[in-house]
Amino acid sequence: MSEAASQSALSNLLHETRRFDPPADLAANAIATKATYDEASSDRLAFWEKQAKRLTWAKPWDQVLDWSNAPFSKWFVGGQINAAVNCLDRHVEAGHGDKVAYHWEGEPGDTRTITYADLTKMVCQAANALTEIGVQAGDRVMIYMPMIPETVVAMLACARLGAPHSVVFGGFSAEALAGRTLDCDAKLIITADGGYRRGAPSALKPAVDQACKECPQVEHVLVVRRTGQDVEWNEGRDLWWHDVVEKQSTTHEAQAFDAEQPLYIMYTSGTTAKPKGILHTTGGYLTGVSATHKMVFDLHEDTDVYWCAADIGWVTGHSYIVYGPLANLTTSVMYEGTPDTPARDRWWSMVDKYKVSILYTAPTTIRTFMKWGEEFPAQHEMSSLRLLGSVGEPINPEAWMWYRRVIGHDRCPIVDTWWQTETGMIMITPLPGVTSTKPGAAMTAFPGVSADVVDNDGKPVGNGEGGYMVITEPWPAMLRGIWGDDERYRQTYWSRFDGLYFAGDGAKKDEDGDYWLLGRVDDVMNISGHRISTTEVEHAIVGHPKVAEAAVVGASDPTTGQAIVAFVTVKGNVPDDESQGHAFADELRAHVAKEIGPIAKPRDILITPDLPKTRSGKIMRRLLRDVAEHRQLGDTTTLLDPGVVSSIAEKMPAGAAEE
Ligand code: WT7
Repeated sequence: MSEAASQSALSNLLHETRRFDPPADLAANAIATKATYDEASSDRLAFWEKQAKRLTWAKPWDQVLDWSNAPFSKWFVGGQINAAVNCLDRHVEAGHGDKVAYHWEGEPGDTRTITYADLTKMVCQAANALTEIGVQAGDRVMIYMPMIPETVVAMLACARLGAPHSVVFGGFSAEALAGRTLDCDAKLIITADGGYRRGAPSALKPAVDQACKECPQVEHVLVVRRTGQDVEWNEGRDLWWHDVVEKQSTTHEAQAFDAEQPLYIMYTSGTTAKPKGILHTTGGYLTGVSATHKMVFDLHEDTDVYWCAADIGWVTGHSYIVYGPLANLTTSVMYEGTPDTPARDRWWSMVDKYKVSILYTAPTTIRTFMKWGEEFPAQHEMSSLRLLGSVGEPINPEAWMWYRRVIGHDRCPIVDTWWQTETGMIMITPLPGVTSTKPGAAMTAFPGVSADVVDNDGKPVGNGEGGYMVITEPWPAMLRGIWGDDERYRQTYWSRFDGLYFAGDGAKKDEDGDYWLLGRVDDVMNISGHRISTTEVEHAIVGHPKVAEAAVVGASDPTTGQAIVAFVTVKGNVPDDESQGHAFADELRAHVAKEIGPIAKPRDILITPDLPKTRSGKIMRRLLRDVAEHRQLGDTTTLLDPGVVSSIAEKMPAGAAEE
């Protein structure tokens, strides 16, 4: 967002006068109350210690936090714990084996009801199988799967063995999978033949085969049969899940690990072309995600049915489909496919069918539903819903109000939850029984989280002012580093402001001191709640043999939040007629899909003879953002050739970018 645009958007936000108080019945029974905030602010570490005690530890800790080697933290030092035991065995041992963990629904309509006892047995079998294959504590395991129960089983089997998993979203390309597999030197990839999306089977195994060509260290590929598609088979390397897992014993003696045992690595885009492996460990992470899940969603495990409609390939799925909900003995809904298959009311029919009481999704999805129209939710009662959540990008007040009225029937509070892959857990959020919410504001720090908005010099801004979102004290689910790159960890998060964690987001405090998140201030774009770096896309485009130079910017988009716009110069002749230009743009889009994945395909590609550059040769992305968002061009006086940018502006397609 340009300075001018963000200022005007901001003054609108700050004049927001609508307030929605917690419903009285919810407040009366709420898990978290005003006292929770008081308790946490009077002794933050004691608060976290109390949350950690909700888990089952094999050995208690000696120290809550060791921050002596900042910015590297250790939580619950000396404690021993097993994450899978906390998500499974302890619930079964406490007599909850028959409680449903997941109501799973495949896109074609097939269903599976999986209890805590079932899931425990499945995870034990998988842990035995992984052990047989040679997986040991500390080994990295890649998971490249559709949204099926085996994905959860694979993650928990790894956790049970102390082998950190690295889940790669199934929409990423073979190249992306290979890069991540090499970076963490994984010897096993767990995948499936494919999954169902938009009414048809889509394949996963060919991408794994392709990735393995670049990853000679991979010894085995374990394949779940989901769709029954033909797959190429590499004898000796490839193993069917049903051959090696289903024959195993359904019991497995779990070992407890150090609280700081790596639990998983999740790759996410930074400001360079190479994604960062964000490392999360066990004790602090599980403490953070279970506490936030319980309080933010006011989770009453006996009565609630909870649905986090994210993909497990992203951190939201890790923290709020798998680890948080299972640690809290939650009954969840899990769905494989797209919301418009077979019809645009799929989600709402599932809400009624499973009596979903808590729904957690992203603004981009809400805006898609808005576009489809109210008639689809209106076909269903949806009277079971009592709480709605939003995550992934700033939610515009219109979408917030629509969500509240059309999905929540003006009855359900909305929790707009701000957090990141790096934070592991929700950081800024209302608490539904306490906080009066405002449409579009994430409101306040979760109890035990210390946050602020600071100016360029790291000084807290006053109410009514804007700046940068920072976290001022360590928190239990914080990343422990970037896999294999301690220096990059320091540089990226801890060097901008002394002693403060810099999230990369702009934010404002309104007149009441409540937080409004305003989007990234770095070269990271947010496309449908997915984080993609401009540099990564530029790098992919420039890798095409015909391309000379590329500049990529994020432009605001009414549905996806931001959309990718690429400005490209080519080697030799510019494709001059329109159809050639279109064909070449399509070729580039396909190229980006191959290098990164379909989610990174630019919405607009402008082939241009030149890019606007300063006299020192720097591409002026600020001006390109103005072009992409159809704004009056900013200051062009520092440009080498001011004519370049106006000629590009003339070519910019109208339409989607205009709001
Ligand atoms: C970035 C983190 C958190 C899980 C999904 C995305 C943006 C996230 C919000 C929100 C405004 C938000 C931020 C953040 N973001 N939630 N409620 N309001 N912005 O995780 O891929 O690590 O992306 O998503 O810009 O930095 P991620």
